[in-house]
Amino acid sequence: MKIIETIDKMQTEAEKIRLSGRRIGLVPTMGFLHEGHLSLIRNARESSDTVITSIFVNPTQFGPGEDYEDYPRDPERDIRMAEAAGSDIIFHPSAKEMYPEGYQTFVTVEKLTKVLCGLSRPQHFRGVTTVVIKLFNATKPHLAIFGQKDAQQALVIRRMVNDLNLDIEIKISPIIREPDGLAMSSRNTYLDATQRKNATVLYRSLILARQLIESGERSARRISDELVKIIAQTDGAEIDYVSMVDTAKLEPVQTLSGEILIAEAVRFGKTRLIDNIILTV
Ligand code: PAF
Repeated sequence: MKIIETIDKMQTEAEKIRLSGRRIGLVPTMGFLHEGHLSLIRNARESSDTVITSIFVNPTQFGPGEDYEDYPRDPERDIRMAEAAGSDIIFHPSAKEMYPEGYQTFVTVEKLTKVLCGLSRPQHFRGVTTVVIKLFNATKPHLAIFGQKDAQQALVIRRMVNDLNLDIEIKISPIIREPDGLAMSSRNTYLDATQRKNATVLYRSLILARQLIESGERSARRISDELVKIIAQTDGAEIDYVSMVDTAKLEPVQTLSGEILIAEAVRFGKTRLIDNIILTV
């Protein structure tokens, strides 16, 4: 397996792979890999000839006071795990390599980034779209795979790829959960034992929403009241948002019909967790 640390070398290697007629699949990650990332790598393995996993904790997507410095990092373990899951190349640039002195160009998707996570993280998606396009330019993929756990991110990236006519197929892979339902996330490592136990309320509330809809409830307000109630009753849980939106524009729905994204963000102490479910009503 190759480990490449500079954009120049990555571009040369990607060009060689393209010229040999092989299909490149990219799995962008911020490292500290877990089973969720490995499922993306396996997914890329099935639909491409060369799999590149990028490991880069992207400073521009963290706001002031967020966890950029504390974000868990273990590149050696990541490299071993990525290789075992079927990755051929690791692209692991430094922050200086990606954002050298004088850097000042950003890519912004406008409306989709102003809602849900965008309300409490106003600069986040600008950082994500910027780094993703830079990763695309470095690795020249035919295909890139993202996780459904970051549902808004996936939509924002699809929007950017469509709007800028990027010739890259975007695939979204399902959420991978712990046995008790908690969505896998590198940030779960921040939780202490009590918070970890209580954090299952995110998934439990989404299941409750599904049950309410299955039993005929169509009022977004009544469903979200129920969700807010069980989350608010959970020790240490602080709701950032619980939202029911359409999956195209992420606009709030009042009466559920069609494809609905139920998304939530909940804080446990300094840890902000997100989860979601998509249902067709
Ligand atoms: O989903 C993530 O881990 C990050 O937002 C991404 C897409 C790798 C960009 O830094």
